[in-house]
Amino acid sequence: MHAPSPPILLPRGLVTAPRVVTCDPRLPGPLGVIEEGAVLLEQGRVVAVDRLANLTAHENPVLLRGQGLLTPGLVDAHTHAAWVGSRHGEYRLRLAGAGYEEIARAGGGIRSTMRAVREASQEAIERVLWQRLHRMLDQGVTTVEIKSGYGLDEASERKQLQAIACARAASELPRISPTYLALHALPPEFDGRRPDYVAAAQRWLRSFAAEGLACAVDAYLDRAAFSVAEAEPLLRLARELGLAVRLHAGQFADVGACQLAASLEAVSADHLEHAGPEAIEALARGGVTAVLLPVASFTLNQAPPPVAALRSAGVPLAVASDANPGTAPTESLPLALAFAARSYGLSPEECLLGATRHAAASLGFASETGALFPGASADLVLWGLPHEEALIQPWGAPPVEAVVLRGARVR
Ligand code: NIG
Ligand code: FE
Repeated sequence: MHAPSPPILLPRGLVTAPRVVTCDPRLPGPLGVIEEGAVLLEQGRVVAVDRLANLTAHENPVLLRGQGLLTPGLVDAHTHAAWVGSRHGEYRLRLAGAGYEEIARAGGGIRSTMRAVREASQEAIERVLWQRLHRMLDQGVTTVEIKSGYGLDEASERKQLQAIACARAASELPRISPTYLALHALPPEFDGRRPDYVAAAQRWLRSFAAEGLACAVDAYLDRAAFSVAEAEPLLRLARELGLAVRLHAGQFADVGACQLAASLEAVSADHLEHAGPEAIEALARGGVTAVLLPVASFTLNQAPPPVAALRSAGVPLAVASDANPGTAPTESLPLALAFAARSYGLSPEECLLGATRHAAASLGFASETGALFPGASADLVLWGLPHEEALIQPWGAPPVEAVVLRGARVR
């Protein structure tokens, strides 16, 4: 359907910049900054990262010369990017004071996008997703986690996951980590039969895992969504099948999702606006990454999550867009970073690590991307900015000079 345009691999050579921010923990400082630095690339991989003066000796040609900042490609660890339709009418109601959960109870919200996804063909979903991922690349995002969760029946969830798989196979698009969002909302055909829906989702999970359509499983655990007791058997099955677990946890209420995340060795607990002290302690104990979604809490007019407590407990912090038509109407990870700084009080360093190394680690990509080190995938961004602190200022639209994805220049 799409005319694929395979990007052309750069030859062996250097990408240089006055300020190279590697995010490599083996280098000094929180971000491993190299002034007058360069990244040596070959065959899609990083061969060396050093001061330019130390890398020119071997007659490596300069392929790209940045004017300011060079960072790893950004990693968006929580998106619902495979959605279609529009929820503008509902947004208008919310602007007039209607609540998110209230609209959901009346059959809108996630169920509204479910209707649009059920009606759409796989090709239609692919088309929208393709365009969205290209716009994400425009903003320096080279890795994206994408959830299903709007089909809410086997065929429609598979349709979403297959559209994601199709994008995942395209070398021109960001690296994709697909997640089966198994428990998002109860579809109308299961009204009054919640246990049957959870049991059905377990059967679908077995199929999707066997078909290789998901790397992780997610569930929305909240007072108006699913309970820990409902989700636990399904999530344990996911772990037995070798899938990672990521959870929507504590968005509206602390229902024990973080404790469950820790007991399942989940890779992430996301949202956390209502995570209490025991929840935070569980995340720290379980080594679970907190994925912060500041656009969602801004949209919902919520107070921030307990960032200071998460930080002092040593919980790794990631920041993601949550791109979805209900709570986070944006595709911009840089916008989420701007909000993380302004409304959550994250430092510029925490913002950048939250959208690179910590996000990549939560997706199981620590040895592949999220930092610049020998052996990593050559995913990097040249920004028209003088310093990493400037990344969080041009809200949602930091100027990109070039994007290199798997060693190919794609912007
Ligand atoms: O991450 N609240 C649960 N899920 C999404 C929103 C989904 C929607 O409203 O379409 C979230 O906020
Ligand atoms: Fe979400």
